[in-house]
Amino acid sequence: MKKTKFAVLDEKNPDRTIIEEAGITIKNGGLVAFPTETVYGLGGDALQSASSRKIYAAKGRPCDNPLIVHICRWEDIEKIAVRIPAAAVKLADAFWPGPLTMILEKSALVPAETTGGLSTVAVRMPSHPAALALIAAAGGYVAAPSANTSGRPSPTRAEHVREDLDGRIDMIVDGGGTEIGLESTIVDLTEPVPVILRPGFVTKEMMEEVLQTAVEVDRSLPAAGQAPRAPGMKYRHYAPRGKMTVVSGDREAVIRTIGRLAAEKRTAGERVGVICTDETKPFYEADCIASAGGGMDAEAAARHLYEILRSFDSRQVTYIYSEAFPGEGIGQAVMNRLLKAAGHHILEVS
Ligand code: TXA
Ligand code: MG
Repeated sequence: MKKTKFAVLDEKNPDRTIIEEAGITIKNGGLVAFPTETVYGLGGDALQSASSRKIYAAKGRPCDNPLIVHICRWEDIEKIAVRIPAAAVKLADAFWPGPLTMILEKSALVPAETTGGLSTVAVRMPSHPAALALIAAAGGYVAAPSANTSGRPSPTRAEHVREDLDGRIDMIVDGGGTEIGLESTIVDLTEPVPVILRPGFVTKEMMEEVLQTAVEVDRSLPAAGQAPRAPGMKYRHYAPRGKMTVVSGDREAVIRTIGRLAAEKRTAGERVGVICTDETKPFYEADCIASAGGGMDAEAAARHLYEILRSFDSRQVTYIYSEAFPGEGIGQAVMNRLLKAAGHHILEVS
């Protein structure tokens, strides 16, 4: 067991001494969890293979699942990526710093451990001021997966990081709740047509508008018998401990179906959790009922989803029923994570 240091940032005035200490810890080969605008990241020096190995070990993550390299200045991209396409420049102009990760050809400087043995590298410049300051203090290249134990929902609060990684890492920087709540969009720019490997806040439509060309969405799911192109997508990610079903369709039918399934399971002695909206919450009876926000507010759903899944875990929920959310804008990413958490178990009702 390591002693993990906790440091709380004052949101408006990030304390330089905390940032400096975090930066030095990473430079010295240590691991620091820190907030970004999407989820908390577990940072190590992306250019030290030993740091990447430590990240995999702390998370219990398979080491063929590559890490995202976080940078804080556009120029730095040239050290870690080669043959950078024009599309990357345009997307960075439009969305960096922000919740977009680009897959590019890697340079020789990036150790194979950081990219899980791939010849490509994932690069992101986050917009959270503390994250940017920390990356600079750490030397400019911070490998950071989400700061959760592999297989658990990504952390949206420092408390979640503590639950998973206390005693396994050097430091946790607490910057409060994250703004977006779901991981960044990942777009692969190594082929002629950009392909979205993971949906997020930056949508296909937003990128098409900037690039003035078509952007595809990776359709290869493990169920289709193909290897997904983002190695992480083949693992059962974002998994709550309860068995989860997403119920989609006509509102009344969804309420009726979830009500019936919840009652059946509770009669059988199970603990049931329901994920719904402010408007539908009064209609349910279950052991835990969590509203993800207003029915039309996909951003609120994104912000609350992982926290809800974690709360169900800590309350030993054994069955989870979730309403489907409208799949527009960040709603696409919300549905993607819900379906993953449910192992693609969806019930269409009418
Ligand atoms: O919002 C985010 O992206 C957060 C914050 C901390 O920045 N990070 C994050 O990292 O979600 P992680 O490791 O949990 O997810 C990274 C995903 C994995 O599914 C991984 O397989 C994929 O990115 N990935 C990384 N490098 C890749 C590469 N070279 N080619 C394809 N996929 C890659
Ligand atoms: Mg992750």
